[in-house]
Amino acid sequence: MNNNTTDLEKKLQALLLAEQDNFLQGKVADYIPALANVKPELMGISVATIDGQFFGAGDYQHPFSIQSISKVFGLVMAMNRIGDSIWQRVRMEPSGQPFNSIVQLEWEKGIPRNPVINAGALLVSDVLTSHFSASKLAFLTFVRKLANNEKIHIDNQVYLSELKHGNLNAALAYLMKSFGNIEAEIPDVLSHYFTQCSISMSCQQLATSLLFLANKGVDPRTQKSICTIRDAHKVNAILSTSGMYDQSGEFAFSVGLPAKSGVGGGIIAIVPGYGVICAWSPPLNSYGNSVVGMNLMAAITEELGLSIYH
Ligand code: DON
Repeated sequence: MNNNTTDLEKKLQALLLAEQDNFLQGKVADYIPALANVKPELMGISVATIDGQFFGAGDYQHPFSIQSISKVFGLVMAMNRIGDSIWQRVRMEPSGQPFNSIVQLEWEKGIPRNPVINAGALLVSDVLTSHFSASKLAFLTFVRKLANNEKIHIDNQVYLSELKHGNLNAALAYLMKSFGNIEAEIPDVLSHYFTQCSISMSCQQLATSLLFLANKGVDPRTQKSICTIRDAHKVNAILSTSGMYDQSGEFAFSVGLPAKSGVGGGIIAIVPGYGVICAWSPPLNSYGNSVVGMNLMAAITEELGLSIYH
């Protein structure tokens, strides 16, 4: 460990200390019992850099439900499989609506605003279900390879809870099907979507597995191409405008990085040319974003001068 390592880890620990009581300002997702049982006081942060360094503090090795962060992996897989034709079925515009809203989808004839709201992620799940013979296994294998960890798994309790309480997602999928924008059978699409949401990963695993998005599509550890440079650009662009749902504008103001949140309390942020930050704290604000996670992202970005808008 060199002096820089020690310095950044000390900074991360200090940021966590400053946030110690702020988790009380949020509310843990309780729409499914499996998420409501997580300890609200857990919090962690990690930074992985494209030159091979890693820094972590707090509960950065504790696995949590990645939920909507899975939409990033799904989009990359779908673009790798069907290329730019995906943009005929989903757009790349901010929605200005909650992540699970259905109203816009009818007005816009079953074409989701972007791939990281629920309707868009269901569309992506349809692409994966239709183009892979075993899409859930292919997804898990993709994530395990990126994280270089065969132990990453699907939390079956979360999966079953999602399935049981997934009526709104089912409604979104059936509405898109009625417009001819879903190919596979709806139960298969939903099963794929809930499976990817139910994967458990830690801040450390998420930060390292997404390094390719900070490095023009190439995994800096293996030098393997995970997606094209154009697709890495597109994913980062969508995460900049829509990754934090209808708090994406505020996130751009206070942080200034492409990012994605999940209702498990995780947030990942891509720093092109530098690395990936992942923060986790389960209690959420009214938009579905982690309260402490938002604060940690703002503080670390300020501290290190990482905003892409500087
Ligand atoms: O679709 C759902 O309800 C969840 N499985 C995923 C939601 C999610 O993480 C949205 N994000 N903030």
